[in-house]
Amino acid sequence: MDTSKLKQTASQLVANHKGLLAMDESTGTANKRFAEAGIPQTLAMREAYRNMIITTPKLGESISGAILFDETIRQKGPDGTSFPSAVENAGIIPGIKLDAGAKDIPFFPGEKVTEGLDGLRDRIAEYVKMGARFAKWRAVIAIGNGLPTQTCIDLNAQVLARYAALCQEGGLVPVVEPEVLMDGSHTLESCFDATERTLHAVFAELYKQRVLFEGMLLKPNMVLAALDAPEQPGIDEVADATIHCLLRTVPAAVPGVVFLSGGQSSELASARLNAMNSRFKSKLPWAVTFSYARAIQQPAMDIWKGQDANVPAAQKALEHRAHMNRLARAGEYSQAMETV
Ligand code: G3H
Repeated sequence: MDTSKLKQTASQLVANHKGLLAMDESTGTANKRFAEAGIPQTLAMREAYRNMIITTPKLGESISGAILFDETIRQKGPDGTSFPSAVENAGIIPGIKLDAGAKDIPFFPGEKVTEGLDGLRDRIAEYVKMGARFAKWRAVIAIGNGLPTQTCIDLNAQVLARYAALCQEGGLVPVVEPEVLMDGSHTLESCFDATERTLHAVFAELYKQRVLFEGMLLKPNMVLAALDAPEQPGIDEVADATIHCLLRTVPAAVPGVVFLSGGQSSELASARLNAMNSRFKSKLPWAVTFSYARAIQQPAMDIWKGQDANVPAAQKALEHRAHMNRLARAGEYSQAMETV
């Protein structure tokens, strides 16, 4: 294991107030989002969309790394080179989603464990040859009546650590994503409790399986009330709860925390990230930045609608969201900047 290279890549991914762009939607998820935006669900459209993203002017000023899906990493970039080369040419580090999706846990209704470990060592070697330098694996933890169970948390923690160790052995920086879901009507306090339990279990497993904390990134949820909760906490309350939870659970050796957006609106995802960085600036042991999919892409997808004529406006919206999040990472974002 080349520890210095892993450490260097992990630090590079969170340097200069930049963050990650998750553009690794599986075919099913990409088609679902296209259907909602009125875009035909074809391979050609998915390729055109991903080329539109990666040719966005100035994207590399705010985005350090892009997480790709298997279909995309094998695709040609707009100039006919490989897609990972197009990503590198944009000044962005290519990464790859390695999980094969979350599947039901037998006898644990409502809970899932993520699959994809079979053959993972060989897949990692193949992606490294294609140019990937980091990877992502998402586990999902649901909150509900009696959920999450400790069994669900422990199973996912073990699998996340197996994935992370295999990544580091093969030369990829693992982005470890245990996502406590926002679905339902639970309170911020329930989310705090589930997130704290999950992160304790995940870091205990990572330690047991000898994962190098300095050569990984954590991609957690923010500590929030659920989407349908009757009471929604303020921006500062979310920022404070999230940072307190992370300070109790995430070792200082980890170079960065890169949040998922999880269904928050684009502007709230920026405002909450900004509040964490402005309120806790000198007290944070790790970089606190973003790895958003929907909160960066959605406005651009809605403008693009699959039409060439809309590409410049869609790219402007994408660049705007990426830039807003870079400012939020620095604690310099304000709502007043939300005019494209
Ligand atoms: O795995 C989840 C994605 O990487 C982040 O997506 O920001 O839309 O929640 P999201």
